[in-house]
Amino acid sequence: MCGVELIPAPQTVRQGEGRFALGDAVRLEVGPGAERTARWLRGVLGAATGVEFGAQDGAGGGTVSLGLEEGLGAESYRLTVTPERVELRGGDAAGVFWAAQTVRQLLGPAAFRRAPLPNRAAWTLPVCEIADRPRFAWRGFLLDVARHFMPKDGVLRHLDLMAVHKLNVLHLHLTDDQGWRMEVRGHPRLTEVGAWRERTRVGLEPSPVWDERPHGGFYTQDDLREIVAYAAERHITVVPEIDVPGHSQAAIAAYPELGNTDVVDTAALGVLDRWGVNPNVLAPTETVLRFYEDVFGELLEIFPSTFVHVGGDECPKEQWRRSPVAQARIAELGVGDEDGLQSAFVRHFDRWLAERGRRLIGWDEILEGGLAEGAAVSSWQGYAGGIAAVRAGHDVVMCPQTEVYLDWRQADGPDEPVPIAHVRTLEDVYRFEPVPAELTAAEAAHVIGTQANVWTEVLDSGRAVDYAVYPRLSAFAEVAWSELPAPPERDWAGFEARMRTHYARLDALGVEYRPPSGPRPWQRRPGVVGRPKDGPPPIV
Ligand code: ACM
Repeated sequence: MCGVELIPAPQTVRQGEGRFALGDAVRLEVGPGAERTARWLRGVLGAATGVEFGAQDGAGGGTVSLGLEEGLGAESYRLTVTPERVELRGGDAAGVFWAAQTVRQLLGPAAFRRAPLPNRAAWTLPVCEIADRPRFAWRGFLLDVARHFMPKDGVLRHLDLMAVHKLNVLHLHLTDDQGWRMEVRGHPRLTEVGAWRERTRVGLEPSPVWDERPHGGFYTQDDLREIVAYAAERHITVVPEIDVPGHSQAAIAAYPELGNTDVVDTAALGVLDRWGVNPNVLAPTETVLRFYEDVFGELLEIFPSTFVHVGGDECPKEQWRRSPVAQARIAELGVGDEDGLQSAFVRHFDRWLAERGRRLIGWDEILEGGLAEGAAVSSWQGYAGGIAAVRAGHDVVMCPQTEVYLDWRQADGPDEPVPIAHVRTLEDVYRFEPVPAELTAAEAAHVIGTQANVWTEVLDSGRAVDYAVYPRLSAFAEVAWSELPAPPERDWAGFEARMRTHYARLDALGVEYRPPSGPRPWQRRPGVVGRPKDGPPPIV
């Protein structure tokens, strides 16, 4: 394959004779629609290679031509390399950008640095013709910045890593019981109080280890605008998640009136310092709906994505069962029971978002009690939830925890970090099939994509996140982008061989992935309890 191993694998590759050599200065032709890719080439690839892209006179350095081509589909591209010229043609602007990502891989691992190696020999590309297109429109990565905060710079770095892998949706999990991470100008206590917790359990229940340092942080609205713009430059959409009506204790700690005050002393609640499904959920009142309309109103000003994620997962109904206010609301709305109440809550925001030209997406549990029309589902509970949602006519993003939760452990053994749930190896992720076999072709068309999720209960640093996410996200990216055979026929050995080159790229990018030779011992967390292999279902 062009003498270089591409990840994700492209559709078709024809290799020719010879190479294109980049001089110190390369003439850049930029057609309409290719401006962002031109900026990226000049900036990122220019910094890595020391090559000046854009000189009017190529001074013998050859020509790189960027533009659109009719007839190519969304995000598709054609890359043609001859000894004189490199042509990147996209079906749209994103396609041109993905072609540039392929060019970077063809240049070799040193092209992933931020400054050139001294005394490097010339940069060359193999003569070839590549035609490529993605299998799924939604190729997502969820980053949980609520359980452990990741400063802005870390998020921008993950966007760069996603671009390398042709992933195009960053699902930002911005709120949870353990922290609220988005500045909301109308309700400042959400971050003044809700972004900070006093201490943190290290590991899952009943781990006896605590980190007694305060933890927290949040993004200002300007930070979030920068993240959105940086993503857009890379043809990545940021889908924000505000999790309601469960996973809301950080908000309740900031504004106790958001909780079920008739059955719980919510003024005594702090930001949660431990993990698991939590009973302190939002009250189903008009006041709470108005409050969250304010929150989503500010959010819509920042995030242009069509989809807005409202969470909806793991909302225990126990407080609503005991709460006279909630029971009166069930009667008033005529929704029958607590599931109906959750459904009414979700439907409210479905309508509210639709009126503003957006679409609601939530976790499987929004199906309970009937799901609003037009809403989409992030399906995390194995395959069953996704199948049910598709059959009810909804669009689905498949992210089953059993397959693509990247906080799950990568091996057994004492040198692994906190062991979560079952072992998911790189090969397991490579053999993940997003479309359930039970679906007909018409039903399968509702699977709009797939997503890998990294939850950060036990990942308390960027280094820990790197170890959990890579290299498994590289395998996931190939599943999401490439047309692979059914799992048993997948060429695992071929992928492993291509990964040898890809590890060198990840090294150049400074990614602390789990090496194929085994764990990095400094990731070990002695004495910290995770969740044993054959234990109860994981808490996520
Ligand atoms: C989830 O893992 N609770 C979406």
